[in-house]
Amino acid sequence: MTTVEPRTTRPVVAFPGADLPTPCLVLELDVVAERYTQLRESLTEAVVHYAVKANPHPELVGLLARLGAHFDVASPAEVDLCLGLGVPPDRLSYGNTVKKRTDIAHAWSRGVRLFAFDSRAELHKLAEAAPGASVFCRLLTSGTGADWPLSRKFGCAPDMAADLLLEAGPLGLDPCGLSFHVGSQQRDPSRWEPAVASAAAVTREVYRRSHGQRVLRLLNIGGGLPARYLEQIPALGEHTGAITAALDHHFPAHGPLPRPRVMAEPGRYLVADAGVVHTEVVPVSYTHRTLPTTPYGYVAVAAAPSRRKR
Ligand SMILES: Cc1ncc(COP(=O)(O)O)c(C=O)c1O
Repeated sequence: MTTVEPRTTRPVVAFPGADLPTPCLVLELDVVAERYTQLRESLTEAVVHYAVKANPHPELVGLLARLGAHFDVASPAEVDLCLGLGVPPDRLSYGNTVKKRTDIAHAWSRGVRLFAFDSRAELHKLAEAAPGASVFCRLLTSGTGADWPLSRKFGCAPDMAADLLLEAGPLGLDPCGLSFHVGSQQRDPSRWEPAVASAAAVTREVYRRSHGQRVLRLLNIGGGLPARYLEQIPALGEHTGAITAALDHHFPAHGPLPRPRVMAEPGRYLVADAGVVHTEVVPVSYTHRTLPTTPYGYVAVAAAPSRRKR
């Protein structure tokens, strides 16, 4: 296994804010810009939507906006943050599959037109609160190989995805595509292949059952690209090479279906190595008269880093 080059980033190796009052977060924005540029160069066909939930610091989001990034938003606050920084609403995708009706209406009223769903209930909510919106269905993945699998939480089975996408049109929505998430901090580049294969199978199924009337035109490959931290992980090119090979195989140039527009939603990969939180252990408390190794003790840390600029 090769490692991400060129280095473990500076904030991770030598924390530059040791003299600042805690709690504090040091963010090295150059690292974010470098990662964004590397990803754009390594996966040229994908539009990169930064997953704002990974770190919504306005300077970080503003930097990515200036670099031309699009954004994956998951709440009204994230919608407003991006719009407030001058990001046009057509660069936002609402990727959270569990939304309040009022949150959908909020995003819709501010011009967001692209939304995720993974259940019939969510589809009906979207039809009511965002009539005519473009919607993509999130598919289940196994999450194997990831430190943080999201499989039990989000995504629906492929046969159900096809049913729901076919129901979306009659509800007045535009069923434009599919998404998946291979699990966060995905260490195994071979996990992209089954996810792309599953998306291609649903795309074909929707085409067949609609007698050629419904061609899904978007494939959102989600997040999952790993951060370096202090570990050995596959290089970015191993992941992007596997993604491109899977797309070439399952959406061949002269196949019956056009290759979908690809979007990616990295969070951790873009920002995790750019920052370190410095905090302080306040007490280490032992609440039983047992050994210090007792599981009944607790450690309290100062949380909620302040927004201080460097
Ligand atoms: C819909 C969606 N997109 C993107 C991400 C970002 O994932 P990662 O940090 O693994 O890149 C997440 C994380 O939970 C997510 O739920």
